[in-house]
Amino acid sequence: MSRHWHLEYSGNHAVLTLDVEGQSANVLSQDVLNEFDKHLEELESKMLAGAIIRSGKTSGFIAGADVREFVTITDPARATEFAQLGQQVCARLEGLPFPSVAVIHGFCLGGGLELALACTYRIARDDPGTRLGLPEVRLGIHPGFAGTVRLPPLVGDLSALDMMLTGRTLSAREARRLGLVDEIVPERHLLHAAETFLKSGTPRRKAPWYRRLPAWKPLRQGVVKLMSPRVRRKAHPDHYPAPWRILDLWRDRATEDREAESLGELLVSRTSRNLVHVFLLGEALKRQGKAQAHDIEHVHVVGAGVMGADIAIWAAHKGFRVSLQDRAPEILARAVKKAHGFFKSKLKDPRVVQEAMDRFMPDLEGHGLRRADLVIEAIVEKVGPKQELFRMIEQKVRPQALLATNTSGIPLEEIGEALQDPSRLVGLHFFNPVAKMQLVEIVRGARTSEAALGRARAFTGAIERLPLDVKSSPGFLVNRILMPYLLEAVKLVEEGVSLITIDQAATEFGMPMGPVELADTVGLDICLSVAEELSGPLHIDVPAKLRELVGQDHLGRKSGRGFYRYDARGRRQTPAPEKIAVDVPVTERLVLRLLNEAMACLREGVVTDADAVDAGMVYGTGFAPFLGGPMSYIESLGVTGISHSLHRLLQEYGPRFNPDSGWSRPELLKRGLRPSGQA
Ligand code: NAI
Repeated sequence: MSRHWHLEYSGNHAVLTLDVEGQSANVLSQDVLNEFDKHLEELESKMLAGAIIRSGKTSGFIAGADVREFVTITDPARATEFAQLGQQVCARLEGLPFPSVAVIHGFCLGGGLELALACTYRIARDDPGTRLGLPEVRLGIHPGFAGTVRLPPLVGDLSALDMMLTGRTLSAREARRLGLVDEIVPERHLLHAAETFLKSGTPRRKAPWYRRLPAWKPLRQGVVKLMSPRVRRKAHPDHYPAPWRILDLWRDRATEDREAESLGELLVSRTSRNLVHVFLLGEALKRQGKAQAHDIEHVHVVGAGVMGADIAIWAAHKGFRVSLQDRAPEILARAVKKAHGFFKSKLKDPRVVQEAMDRFMPDLEGHGLRRADLVIEAIVEKVGPKQELFRMIEQKVRPQALLATNTSGIPLEEIGEALQDPSRLVGLHFFNPVAKMQLVEIVRGARTSEAALGRARAFTGAIERLPLDVKSSPGFLVNRILMPYLLEAVKLVEEGVSLITIDQAATEFGMPMGPVELADTVGLDICLSVAEELSGPLHIDVPAKLRELVGQDHLGRKSGRGFYRYDARGRRQTPAPEKIAVDVPVTERLVLRLLNEAMACLREGVVTDADAVDAGMVYGTGFAPFLGGPMSYIESLGVTGISHSLHRLLQEYGPRFNPDSGWSRPELLKRGLRPSGQA
């Protein structure tokens, strides 16, 4: 009986439609693969002119292997068997005694693309929703259904390596240009085009010989050598082994057996488990952003500085009508210029760029307030001016407008004092740079209404960011956890440890950027103001060095000098190595302050559970994804070991290492976002 695949005959060809039961998107589980295999077996003995493989879901063709299923596999041999099953089914499809064609729309990813690669032809729907790719590397694995074997002959070796190593997805047009698909046509011509291909007798597409040159044996080792530095910049071999395996498999022209064996090992590795955990957390946050339809059309942003301009640009980019207000025309002019540059680089087509510009309105007088469904405040981080502004805003906006502040840490209750109706005020705390950092903290003040929170989450989902609920408390979640780590770095600088030593310790641990460079990038003035806000409630000392640099107007990257020096284009100048103090446990001091604060946040209920801490730190700061976030890292180290280390550092360096009382409450490590028993 068919639960997922539906087989029909049309004329003298078969049409196999995948519509996985109980799922909104098609994913390849063992069940789905076994059923497909049975259908193929039946077709093998038939006299047919061809087979069409397509999807019955509006969401797309096939989104990949079933991630939720493979986290249940814990034994490498079982994982290898799973890959072998996929390989066998694809081999059977490729070996059919008549041609086959995959008809692709929407997502065609991972195992889904590998299945399409086994067809004789691929036709894709020509629209922006079509995305093809092999994103396995992002989950710490590589293709396992013979994709590493079939892709290079089709698109050429360098393109195949690029797709597998970066995991990036391609539009229908890019895929056509590369030869990944044979034809792209509008929706209404898809089936007709597929039938024409089946009748055509066109030979299976092959990359031209020159695109296969890198695979020539004497060149292969050299190609790997050339690519390695690029891979190393993104993926330390100890942290992210998958891209290195992809290079090995390619260099050795590995067989399907080796591909399956290697996949088996990677699939059960700690890195992959953690990356899948992070992926599932992202999916869970996405669902929260889609839980209700948004009711916002017009967004008015006040403050066109670093954050306000970027928030406005991003919202317009995602289709909202946006007005942006500031005090001086030249500030708005700068924002308009920035918007134009951004839209041009992202949207390319001049007509689409113009449409985005039409949605983006500089608004010196604040006329947009009267039409706005949502007002986002992003002015200076001072409570007085913010209150004054909200008092004015409340008088002008419509009663149903949602009010939001991008404050980094001023309690919502204080800002809300200025409002007659503080229940409509919510925090929408974006991270810098907005276009890159996916997280938005949805801050709940004591008086914020559920309706306001729901609308804020839905808006965040609509602009394709990840909403994370946090309680209004100093620094919310992310800045609060980050700050002790940054301040410990400043202490290390004060003790004479070289900047490079500190930053390297953090990047070797797996952070995307060292804490010293991060402080410079955020801006030392902003770091100082957040540190000062937090110093009282969290009892943390603000190192003198930070005040000193801000006092000298050394504000970091934006002023050309902070801890490091920067050139006019903001590139860091490498300082000469200074005195290196080797006997200081740099990594341990940095990381343990961060973990201790993460535990404090959990104990105080800033977020509801350990998953939310992991999601916040990975999507808000880039915290080492291969470790799965601070809480997963704590789980892997064990609470007892961390408490001991904190006690040791407490003796040596003083009370800032005082272990939080949460360490003695293991129940705090409970998970909430991800479905139980997974990853
Ligand atoms: P900024 O100093 O770059 O920009 C503030 C802008 O607001 C300036 O252009 C100023 O002219 C304008 N402004 C001030 N008062 C105004 C008023 N009454 N009416 C209209 N415009 C006014 O500041 P930035 O960095 O963009 O920060 C804005 C807010 O976002 C702050 O609350 C900050 O804590 C928060 N934030 C900052 C982040 C960062 O990395 N810079 C990250 C996340 C939040």
